Amino acid sequence: MRVRGLRRSRAATAPDAPALEEVLGPEGTERRRAAHREVPRYAHGSRVPGWDDAVDLDKEPAVVPDAAVVEVPRELRAEIEAAMARYPDSRSAALPALAAAQRHHGWCSPEAITQAACVMRLTPGYLVSVASFYDMFETEPAGRHSIYVCTNISCSLRGADELHAALLAATGDDADFNIRSFECLGACDIAPMASVDSVYIGPLELDDVEPLLADIRAGRPPLAAKQLLRRPSADAAAADYPRDGA
Ligand code: FES
Repeated sequence: MRVRGLRRSRAATAPDAPALEEVLGPEGTERRRAAHREVPRYAHGSRVPGWDDAVDLDKEPAVVPDAAVVEVPRELRAEIEAAMARYPDSRSAALPALAAAQRHHGWCSPEAITQAACVMRLTPGYLVSVASFYDMFETEPAGRHSIYVCTNISCSLRGADELHAALLAATGDDADFNIRSFECLGACDIAPMASVDSVYIGPLELDDVEPLLADIRAGRPPLAAKQLLRRPSADAAAADYPRDGA
């Protein structure tokens, strides 16, 4: 079918071109209209309903949690304060503070956010707005072992989608695992790869799924032979560096 030159309306260019309805016929035209009807449209434009609701002036203003009331675990407080000390504006420590809170609580729970906000002297809403923007902060309960399978182009071309599906199937309902597909993790040279509790591993094959899960469940380093940090490099001592980055 010659598409170029079709008229979308009688007022369009190419006066000799047939109207779209003539080409599609009654059935095709109805299908096209139905497809258009399925696209959600909001009466007041393309924004999410509620975006222009008036501010609730009766609502209590957000407050910084009371340090005399909120109990913060000592180690978590120390970690957040150490992060705050690194910046001239302590709000710059929001990301490391949230990361510490997530590590401590398993996810950015309301309690975790309140504790971090209490130490930072910010409102919980400030930290929620940061946590909900970044992908690696969990704002819902999540398994304690995170496996992020990169399904971006290089990894996808080398079987990442099958790998992701196999991991999902192998872990099933196991609440200990948080299996997610991810955009490019910046290690395309070991595609297909995954970040397993922040350790980059690849290239992965479907046969690696079971040994990988077995390592994690047993508390062993996951697929040690395939870890990026253990690959040969110009620095012969690189593989022996401590994992904490020191
Ligand atoms: S595409 Fe997978 S790490 Fe870049």
